[in-house]
Amino acid sequence: MTPIRLASRLEGIRPTIFTEMSALAMRTGSVNLGQGFPDRDGPPGVIAEAVRALQHGANQYAPGPGVPSLRQAIARHQQRHYGIELDPDQHVVVTTGCTEGIAAALLGLVDAGDEVVVLEPYYDSYVAMIQMAGGVRRPVTLRAPDFRLDVAALRAAVTPRTRFILLNSPHNPTGTVLGRDELQAVADVAVEHDLVVITDEVYEHLTFDGTEHVPLAGLPGMWERTLTLSSAGKSYSFTGWKVGWATGPAELVGAVLAAKQWMTFTSGSPLQPAVALALDEEPDFPRDLARDLEVRRDLLLRGLADAGITAYVPEGTYFASASVRDLGWSDGLAFCLALPERAGVVAIPTQVFYDDQTDADGGRHLVRFAFCKDREVIEDGVTRLAKADLSA
Ligand SMILES: Cc1ncc(COP(=O)(O)O)c(C=O)c1O
Repeated sequence: MTPIRLASRLEGIRPTIFTEMSALAMRTGSVNLGQGFPDRDGPPGVIAEAVRALQHGANQYAPGPGVPSLRQAIARHQQRHYGIELDPDQHVVVTTGCTEGIAAALLGLVDAGDEVVVLEPYYDSYVAMIQMAGGVRRPVTLRAPDFRLDVAALRAAVTPRTRFILLNSPHNPTGTVLGRDELQAVADVAVEHDLVVITDEVYEHLTFDGTEHVPLAGLPGMWERTLTLSSAGKSYSFTGWKVGWATGPAELVGAVLAAKQWMTFTSGSPLQPAVALALDEEPDFPRDLARDLEVRRDLLLRGLADAGITAYVPEGTYFASASVRDLGWSDGLAFCLALPERAGVVAIPTQVFYDDQTDADGGRHLVRFAFCKDREVIEDGVTRLAKADLSA
């Protein structure tokens, strides 16, 4: 028999680092400060609503675009937080996590050869899905120490073949929250070059120190060219539920639905009414979570400093980036592979989220630590780091 091989659309895409590093954490009994999932579940009332839905017949296919009560709750959410008015029947589609929103948006919109400008370091599903859609990525690097958007680099990345910008703010893994000026620069470039912007805002509520998340779709002239993606996973600590949504003008949402109908057709019926309840009746949960995360962020940052690791202060998300250069390492991947044995801790090498993994000025020396974990877990992790010999 001819050896089985992967389809070329998957060629060169490495398996997601999160599987590899979480397996390493399990195998070595390490504290997992790698993958971004919280130790604690979201509101019990929301779980009770999912159980109620399971027991009362929400067990068959939901409508493809999502159950009406959830689409209405998403529209109310966008109105309440950002003053963006949505028609739940035209401007909202429920997806299987933001991950499906990313996949469906790219498969539904990108043609072979289209260029997609994307912030780097990037969330790894962007790379896979741009490639599967036949697109070409054009990275714009956010550089340490402050990881701000370099507007000149953004402009330089745009060519006549560019059709999309794939944005992510609050940004994983750097924790950058793009400010109004940066977003206005993105908007200016998009309008000037007639680009569509797909913006991944899954960490929209998880910002710190009073930093405000500004949705790109709310900027003048951006509504008609912006597809916004989000999810209940991060805002409500239900990452395993995989309930997300895409919002925007009917043409862009229609493109997501056009692709989604052939992937999953519809997303988890009993979870949708529960997420609707979360959005409507637990509106303060995400802000309270952000406040609590801020305390855990500071705990992690103090612990990393005590262990001699130079960390950067994130304005949002679950993550802090750190440089391992001061410890004598130039390669964050080598550091992360040695870390379980040296310290009993797992972190994520940021270099795998860059096109050029050898660029010393890029992310080669950076490592990502998650602080969405219980305080005791973070304390255990940083105590282990402080006790270990981490030098190269
Ligand atoms: C930037 C970003 N987008 C999307 C996702 C995935 O979201 P979901 O779990 O809702 O599919 C994640 C999860 O880590 C993320 O960090």
